[in-house]
Amino acid sequence: MELKQVRQGQEEKEQDHPLHNPLLSPYKMGNFLLSHRVVLAPLTRQRSFNNVPQPHAILYYSQRTNKGGLLISEATGVSDTAQGYPFTPGIWTKEQVEAWKPIVDAVHAKGGIFFCQIWHVGRVSNQGFQPNGQAPISSTDKSLAPQIRANGVDVAQFSPPRKLRTDEIPQIVNDFRLAARNAMEAGFDGIEIHGAHGYLVDQFLKDQINDRTDKYGGSLENRCRFALDIVEAIVNEIGADKVGIRLSPFANYMESGDSNPKALGLYMAESLNKYGILYCHMVEPRMKTVGEKFECPDKLLPMRKAFKGTFIAAGGYDREDGMRAVAENHADLVAYGRLFLANPDLPRRFELNAPLNKYNRETFYIPDPVVGYIDYPFLEETNA
Ligand SMILES: Cc1cc2nc3c(=O)[nH]c(=O)nc-3n(C[C@H](O)[C@H](O)[C@H](O)COP(=O)(O)O)c2cc1C
Repeated sequence: MELKQVRQGQEEKEQDHPLHNPLLSPYKMGNFLLSHRVVLAPLTRQRSFNNVPQPHAILYYSQRTNKGGLLISEATGVSDTAQGYPFTPGIWTKEQVEAWKPIVDAVHAKGGIFFCQIWHVGRVSNQGFQPNGQAPISSTDKSLAPQIRANGVDVAQFSPPRKLRTDEIPQIVNDFRLAARNAMEAGFDGIEIHGAHGYLVDQFLKDQINDRTDKYGGSLENRCRFALDIVEAIVNEIGADKVGIRLSPFANYMESGDSNPKALGLYMAESLNKYGILYCHMVEPRMKTVGEKFECPDKLLPMRKAFKGTFIAAGGYDREDGMRAVAENHADLVAYGRLFLANPDLPRRFELNAPLNKYNRETFYIPDPVVGYIDYPFLEETNA
């Protein structure tokens, strides 16, 4: 009761001084009224057995929901060729769509806005994940070297991919379109195309990987064609006001570097304007990999200025950094990954400038439905 009064008092104070904490100021994203700028970044948790979202995800997502908050789901496969990790969810079957419904409902019941990140891993896979043990598909037939897994010990092995024929590409675009339609059927408020981190869309975007000689390779325009075909197909299917995309032009995760990331980011930002999509979500240049922060002189500002819709920035943000990004108009919203994973009530902790739980890397990707998943304490519990 007392805590509630304090909180109400603070909310009133914030309304009097909207610039007091810019991260907690409201924002209108298209048709969605967000009560603050702290977004749950997409986080793969590998707890979806048989590629079907599980009931334990209901509590996990609803813990991270607050009224008017934006959540982006973990990467969710668009088809049976899209998988490359154990226990990641999909959205291509009726069973998967049905399994998402109670999770989405729980987020909506608490007033959250929920976008589904739709994903194809491309060559970041091996035959063990593929239907009939076939080769993973990609923009290229160049293999990806084995990579150390997130735990820093295990090594992930990848099978040589098969380069998609030009005439097969519309089918993959169609898989994204159907996945977007399924996401809407499951009740999501919109979708985010996963165009980052060296997965299939990025395998077309980046010149370190894409070695095609057809209309999907070579020039910048050609390399961006696959991503934009997907954007167009989904916009036509569910409406531009429900579509976002995540890009990481500066990252080189999974050997996905580009010789001119700034030109790539700018070209995409400008091209996306033609489709009028809701948001562009970009990963900071300092995040070359998914997990480590590097010193980097590059900025997302040119892309932020070029893109006309909502701009979400992500990667290595803490409270102060995020406050500054919004105050200086470098981003409309800031997505938090590891801090939100470990602090289900992150927006409130930011509001109170309360201490944060530390995340435990060891439990990011274990299949346990409780440990490292729904057992991070809330502020009240910590104080109890
Ligand atoms: C456990 C974990 C899972 C992740 N899964 C995804 C994912 O499914 N899709 C994606 O686009 N990024 C994914 N990322 C990247 C995060 O969304 C985010 O960009 C990254 O963690 C950097 O932000 P942070 O410093 O706030 O954690 C993942 C990161 C972590 C730590």
